[in-house]
Amino acid sequence: LQAGLERGSPVVALGGGVVGDLAGFAAATFLRGVPWIAVPTTLLAMVDASLGGKTAIDLPQGKNLVGAFHPPRLVLADPGTLATLPRVELRSGMAEVVKAGLIGDAILFQQCGRGWDYIEAHWSEILRRAVAVKIRIIQDDPFESGARAALNLGHTLGHALERASEFGLRHGEAVAIGLVAEARLAERIGLAESGLSESIAGVLKTIGLPVEIPPDFDRRSLLAPLSVDKKRAAGSVRFSLPERVGSVHTGIQLPELEQFLAAW
Ligand SMILES: NC(=O)c1ccc[n+]([C@@H]2O[C@H](COP(=O)([O-])OP(=O)(O)OC[C@H]3O[C@@H](n4cnc5c(N)ncnc54)[C@H](O)[C@@H]3O)[C@@H](O)[C@H]2O)c1
Ligand SMILES: [Zn+2]
Repeated sequence: LQAGLERGSPVVALGGGVVGDLAGFAAATFLRGVPWIAVPTTLLAMVDASLGGKTAIDLPQGKNLVGAFHPPRLVLADPGTLATLPRVELRSGMAEVVKAGLIGDAILFQQCGRGWDYIEAHWSEILRRAVAVKIRIIQDDPFESGARAALNLGHTLGHALERASEFGLRHGEAVAIGLVAEARLAERIGLAESGLSESIAGVLKTIGLPVEIPPDFDRRSLLAPLSVDKKRAAGSVRFSLPERVGSVHTGIQLPELEQFLAAW
């Protein structure tokens, strides 16, 4: 207000997903909404957080509890900014890129498995492919009424792990473990052909991401976060599970989930 900003004054969010969520939410609410432009500088923000129009902030009670759907007018991602991003952030962001390949781009999935030298020499193509998968899905389902659930791949167990680890695991690490575990679940119920989880694990390990729950982890602690999962509908958790690379099924309920978790 002091700066004299008006309804048409755009907000520019230069930074990672945290800056994008905060600036996007501020833009959604200031004067009942001003335009904003996302200039993502982390891999996760480029391929995930800046796309889809969701903006939110956390409360002490939990993540993303206050927010709005307010898509940026423009997303400007320069792969050159990734040159200074710490390796651990890059690695974590790659879990979402592998997820995008699994959901809808078999070539991207293959490229992820070729290792860092290849990935870093092909950022533009890899980003373009990962972004295209997410855009395709959000265009079909802008307000998250159905098809967007595919984007939850690896995230149902991933979020439970992230919370149960009290955020000792980074988001991408938890998602990587979740992608493999959920593919195992898909094999177990006969949705995916056997070997899919191994091939996903192979790609993630090449990138340097974990694929197994840390050995000292109390598996029972996963059930509490799962039971409050906001994707819970009609009393049971609904999973998005892979059938094969490039194809995902949504809305799957699993009666044997507790046994699986105990044995996982
Ligand atoms: N709105 C959505 O749809 C959505 C989707 C996924 C995640 N998110 C949110 O995004 C956040 C995570 O985003 P993130 O992974 O980008 O984390 P982040 O924004 O915290 O950035 C990670 C770190 O990298 C630094 N950084 C950013 N760009 C850099 C660069 N080019 N070079 C060097 N350092 C750089 C940042 O200062 C920060 O320390 C979470 O809060 C999550 O909830 C939102
Ligand atoms: Zn994610």
